[in-house]
Amino acid sequence: MDAKDLGDDLAKVLVTEAELRVRLAEMAREIEADYDSGEPPLLVGVLRGAVMVMADLARELRFHAEMDWMAVSSYGASTKSSGVVRILKDLDTEIAGRDVLIVEDIIDSGLTLAWLKENLESRGARSVRICTMLRKPEAAKVEVDVAYVGFDIPVDFVVGYGLDYAERYRNLRDVAVLATHVYAGE
Ligand code: PRP
Repeated sequence: MDAKDLGDDLAKVLVTEAELRVRLAEMAREIEADYDSGEPPLLVGVLRGAVMVMADLARELRFHAEMDWMAVSSYGASTKSSGVVRILKDLDTEIAGRDVLIVEDIIDSGLTLAWLKENLESRGARSVRICTMLRKPEAAKVEVDVAYVGFDIPVDFVVGYGLDYAERYRNLRDVAVLATHVYAGE
């Protein structure tokens, strides 16, 4: 789906599909260089938002990209800021001794990723690094060490390239700011 298909739902396009593609190739070259020696990392995608970036990053990488998936959820909306996370779908892969690269669409407060990184480290992974296409530095509640960042963006409500509003807009090709009238009154 393109921005033009969405009428006035979008306030503006923040990062175009072409810009995402260029940046993704740069990130892939960095990742290839960093994992040059030894076995390629296991890519761990966090459902559902990371589906697009995982699909594109994996195809861009010039090594065999083994993929696994997790689904996580905060313990209820009221405790979202607690940083306590529940695993809805766990990995099918044993990661003890392996290099793991978490692949995410966005880091907002950082709470999910801080928890996830620690969780995967506690399973004995040799290393756990994070790759995210988007990050909102001004929304950070905890410091998370992120190895690869596509774009730092403002705290606007963004959708597209995997990011949703009420499960919509995920398949928008670009990253865009949602117009306030779409979610006003909620
Ligand atoms: C998003 C994103 C991260 C998390 C980041 O997922 O994919 O997993 O939020 O937020 P944080 O930095 O504040 O913890 P979301 O919970 O929206 O689920 P989704 O991927 O299924 O859309």
